[in-house]
Amino acid sequence: ETVDWDPEATGKAGYDHFMLKEIHEQPRALRQCLQGRVDELAGDVTLDIDPDIDRVQFVACGTSYHAALYGAALFRAAGVPAQAFLAHEYAIQTPPVEDDLVVAVSQSGETADTLAAIREADRRGADTLALTNVVGSTMARECTDALFIRSGPEIGVAASKTFSAQLTAVNLLALATVGAGDEDVRDLIGALRDLPADIQTILDASGAREVAREYVDSESFFFIGRGYHHPVALEGALKLKEISYTHAEGFAAGELKHGTLALVTPDTPVFAVVTGDGEAARKTIGNVKEVEARGAPVIAVTDGESDVERYADAVLEIPSTHARTAAVLANVQLQLVAYHVANELGRSIDKPRNLAKSVTVE
Ligand code: G6P
Repeated sequence: ETVDWDPEATGKAGYDHFMLKEIHEQPRALRQCLQGRVDELAGDVTLDIDPDIDRVQFVACGTSYHAALYGAALFRAAGVPAQAFLAHEYAIQTPPVEDDLVVAVSQSGETADTLAAIREADRRGADTLALTNVVGSTMARECTDALFIRSGPEIGVAASKTFSAQLTAVNLLALATVGAGDEDVRDLIGALRDLPADIQTILDASGAREVAREYVDSESFFFIGRGYHHPVALEGALKLKEISYTHAEGFAAGELKHGTLALVTPDTPVFAVVTGDGEAARKTIGNVKEVEARGAPVIAVTDGESDVERYADAVLEIPSTHARTAAVLANVQLQLVAYHVANELGRSIDKPRNLAKSVTVE
């Protein structure tokens, strides 16, 4: 007697796709990333690396570049000059390197473009740090130091849990090395600690599937966010493009009116990430009104602290948290939107056409 055993299906643990499984693995992935590294009571973050940091240059591609943009913002908030570069541009037009720590953000640790950037930084005498998921990777071996994101293997070509772990790890890196500027470090550690439970809350009750069904046939999707939510908007659009093959663009919320507003119509839903009730929220709500006036459906990804819901056709809720960790939570809702749009369209979610998990040519 034989039993049918499909290794692919077994690997998916009951989920239809690896990507959906990996989205649901995020609470665990982030717990692993934080494990043994944070002490909330003492307000301490301890990593087994201790680089000297005067200035930082991040290099990365794709989703990892969005984590790099977010990371650079964290360092700037602590008063440290920091910038994110697309690795392939960095390698060809290298900025001046003076006492910079050059941080390569790369899930695989094998991306050729990012390796080339790191090698160029090394030639110029910079210390280098690999922020990666793969312990034995080329980047982990070649860089001066490595910080592992510990999210476990990711099979889906489109990055999901590794992006959330990159955002978490880069928070740890900033807290451990340069602090949090004006922010309270204990609050931030608490917010990081709460991420797994907050993500679970989203996974248990997300309205992303209904939103996906409502808008799946749209011509184009736009994503807007300010500050820490700018990289989230970029990532929301990239994820949707990668797996649904639908056109999407992400913007810093203030930039939409400088050109792309011309494309906004009732057939272009706009996802707006708005959290808190501060100046960033107020200004993004102003941008929401601009697209609403052009008839675009607005989907607000929000913690409910502002009145953005008044201008929204649909709301994807996230728990209230720190502005920095809100970016991680908002991204989870957008991952689910991308997944469900792609699923409605019957796409090959785990292996999108033309894309590879790791690109080892420049
Ligand atoms: C490929 C993948 C993307 C990924 C990028 C960078 O293009 O399809 O999902 O973001 O490489 O990969 P890395 O391993 O360096 O993070």
